[in-house]
Amino acid sequence: MTDADRRRWDERYESLGPAPVGALEPPGFVAPHVDVFPTAGTALDLACGQGRGAVWLARRGLHVLGLDVSAVAICHARDLARRSAGGDRCQFSVFDLDNGLPAGPPVDVILCHKFRDRRLDQALIERLAPGGLLAIAAFSEVGAAPGPFRARRGELRAAFAELDLVAAGEGHGSAWLLARA
Ligand SMILES: C[S@@+](CC[C@H](N)C(=O)[O-])C[C@H]1O[C@@H](n2cnc3c(N)ncnc32)[C@H](O)[C@@H]1O
Repeated sequence: MTDADRRRWDERYESLGPAPVGALEPPGFVAPHVDVFPTAGTALDLACGQGRGAVWLARRGLHVLGLDVSAVAICHARDLARRSAGGDRCQFSVFDLDNGLPAGPPVDVILCHKFRDRRLDQALIERLAPGGLLAIAAFSEVGAAPGPFRARRGELRAAFAELDLVAAGEGHGSAWLLARA
């Protein structure tokens, strides 16, 4: 990522301020499928932003590593984890996913909400432990204007076809998929 893009994300998170703990809800596409998420094991939250998804997973019982390119977002995520029950099961690192996934052991859950980098698809599949769950949502061209960061119609299903589909949907400018290794 360019320094200018990274600065834009930092500025965006500076203007937002830290996330409130409140009633931490899972990302919208996850909410109807909470029961397919394990309550123990390990997880990655990719492009985790302020860590709301990571902390939700940690509250559920998972040990979570959240990665984001924005140092401000990671600062907010650490702060949110400190203020949340179960937050001690979270770790956060500043990491540019343009460099691929960092090396690490297989995980039971990969959460990737509102971030799409097709170059990572195979690495995501390979990082899942047997039976591990991928939960991914991206901006979509379906129900919205085409754009470079938007998934094309059917893109997520095609990209992760070798996983066992749990549920998927697309429309209103977003696409999501839950699938198991
Ligand atoms: C739309 S936000 C989604 C944040 C979070 N997943 C959520 O649902 O609130 C996209 C996130 O991707 C991060 N991001 C963008 N490019 C990245 C990259 N190359 N490596 C790591 N994070 C990146 C941004 O900093 C931002 O936090």
